[in-house]
Amino acid sequence: MFRFGVDYYPEHWPEARWETDARLMQEAGFNTVRLAEFAWSRLEPEPGRFDFDWLDRAIEVLHAHGIQVVLGTPTASPPPWVMAMFPDAYRVPESGLPATYGNRREYCPTHTGYRERSRLITQAMADHYADHPAVIGWQTDNEFGDRCHCEQCRAAFHTWLQRKYGSLDALNTAWGTIFWSHVYTDWAQIPAPLATAAPFGNGSHNPGLALDYYRFMSDTYVAFQHEQVDILRSTCPTHFITHNLMGAGYDRLDYFDLAADLDFVSWDNYRRMQWTFRPEVPPSEAALSHAVMRGLKQRNFWVMEQQAGSGGWQIVSVAPRPGELQLWAYQSIAHGADAIIFFRWRTAHFGTEQYWHGLLEHDGRTGRRYTEVKQMGAELARVGSQIAGSDVRAQTAILLDYDTRFAFQIQANNPAFHYTAHLHDIFQAFHRRNVTVDVVSPESDFAAYKLLIVPAQYVQSEATAAAIERFVKRGGIVLVTPRTGVKDETNTVVNMPLPGHLATVCGIEVEEYDSLPEGVSQPLAFDEGTAMVGRAPQARIWCDVLRVTQARVIARYTSDYYAGTPAVTANQYGAGHAIYAATFGDSELYDTLADWLLDLAGMEGGPETPEGVEWCVRWNGQERIIFVLNHTTEPKQVPLDGGYVDLLTHRVLASATLELRPHQVVMLAAERMPTGATGTSNGGAGRIAQPAQ
Ligand code: GLA
Ligand code: ZN
Repeated sequence: MFRFGVDYYPEHWPEARWETDARLMQEAGFNTVRLAEFAWSRLEPEPGRFDFDWLDRAIEVLHAHGIQVVLGTPTASPPPWVMAMFPDAYRVPESGLPATYGNRREYCPTHTGYRERSRLITQAMADHYADHPAVIGWQTDNEFGDRCHCEQCRAAFHTWLQRKYGSLDALNTAWGTIFWSHVYTDWAQIPAPLATAAPFGNGSHNPGLALDYYRFMSDTYVAFQHEQVDILRSTCPTHFITHNLMGAGYDRLDYFDLAADLDFVSWDNYRRMQWTFRPEVPPSEAALSHAVMRGLKQRNFWVMEQQAGSGGWQIVSVAPRPGELQLWAYQSIAHGADAIIFFRWRTAHFGTEQYWHGLLEHDGRTGRRYTEVKQMGAELARVGSQIAGSDVRAQTAILLDYDTRFAFQIQANNPAFHYTAHLHDIFQAFHRRNVTVDVVSPESDFAAYKLLIVPAQYVQSEATAAAIERFVKRGGIVLVTPRTGVKDETNTVVNMPLPGHLATVCGIEVEEYDSLPEGVSQPLAFDEGTAMVGRAPQARIWCDVLRVTQARVIARYTSDYYAGTPAVTANQYGAGHAIYAATFGDSELYDTLADWLLDLAGMEGGPETPEGVEWCVRWNGQERIIFVLNHTTEPKQVPLDGGYVDLLTHRVLASATLELRPHQVVMLAAERMPTGATGTSNGGAGRIAQPAQ
């Protein structure tokens, strides 16, 4: 069943309105509603006095309209009495200045008192709703994150370190504390990495200490969540458990770890927000977030908050244009969402989010946004069951590493370097070619893929390097980019030429490197005889100067003291190839590399579509559901290479060109399978070979 619905706050509205809301939801085709994730003060008005009557009544009204519910544990926003009970439970950000009451997420995830209150409210809700016919699952807390540096966290960090290192000797060696005489002789001396001690940024702390602290903090949230998960699993064994994560950009928690405890991942997909520098998240960035969210458990996900209107706390973002809400929601589905839950139902009159617009206006009117989503509900009523249960398949994977992300937060290496942006630069080249890309963790089995991209894996374990080596030896193609293999897991620089344990596989050694100032770039020249000769991408940000040990030179630098030396190399290793791109390049570099890598891996790109038009595939066994999405404000024409049926109308497309209106989404089924298609091939690559009869 495809889940379609909305985040609803019955506690914000008079009870007399609930019936109207539920009817309108049903008319929009909604079957699922998330409730209660910020309702702690109504659920437990004072310590130990629980009140579920109002929520029972709200659920009853919804259920009578065919709607089932996901309940949030309300621990992301404690009522004032909780914080009054534990004045030392306020989170202390890096600044060292404790949070005060008035927003949300002000709690310290280590605080034993807070954790007890969190278990008590979770247990009470679980007991009450375990057998409720309308309740299907749980969301833990809300958007976990934000590090705490309080004294309790520092003490818990000491315990975490003792378990990890066993002795102070081992810790001192691992971190290299002899530097600046930081040799610790008592666990209690070890600080939390506060800005007060590091006026020049986190990087002025010992990198080993800072990385361990970030890991510890991530583990702490995972442990906090685990206490809720434990309760929910044992009390409500038939319910699912999920959490709403924040996409590819969020880098304060190890999302692979956080997701491990969940049945599936959910995430909050906002395409246009008041605080994004650019007015809009481009489709490839949203696609990367979807890929990351899908990759956390290698399975489909939910969108627990899909944008329903202008975002806004202080500033109101540009209104979603007609068609955009459904375009963005269909994009989520195209990339693997099995549920679309819009945030939020009706725009609030009060509170911080007065201008975070829901489907309904402030006065409860059903306007343009509601009508659009209702239209989508009618479409999903026809095709939702076909979509649910289908999956996204890829032959290309990109490695995402949270240790590396944490380490780059400590030492950016170059101010213009951003790990997520680098991932996106590469991802975008494949996205433009309509090639589906999976996101994998360093611990994943890479064997399922033909092409593996290892972007700047700065902190690399020997085990991961060995797995990459095996992958290449057995015939895989790998692309490695600069700053890979620089550090071991203690965040210490390796005592060998870079890229460390991958130097042999890549057939090169980094002799030295040049960190470029902002705005400085130089063209690369591809060697004669390579397919890319004539293309001139730019090197930027970082240039490794290479010594070739085995590899073939593909492209060279053209200026500075390393002019003429290799910038892109390819090494045949076992049955595969390792490509080293020694600089962070512009989009032309990754475009050029993507074409070549797909070719090397024996893969085809997806069908060519005009700029701004996505072509995504979900598989149902051997059958494909194709989503063609026009992200532009212009009409677009997409050439078709075979016979397709419009999924909604069941009509065979008459023409060889698909005409798309601005923001239009079309769902297609292939009239027949391409010859030789296995169904396990890459979504984009599994293209139609047979024209319609
Ligand atoms: C997040 C939260 C929601 C809401 C929205 C809009 O995604 O999970 O509670 O605050 O942002 O601000
Ligand atoms: Zn704390």
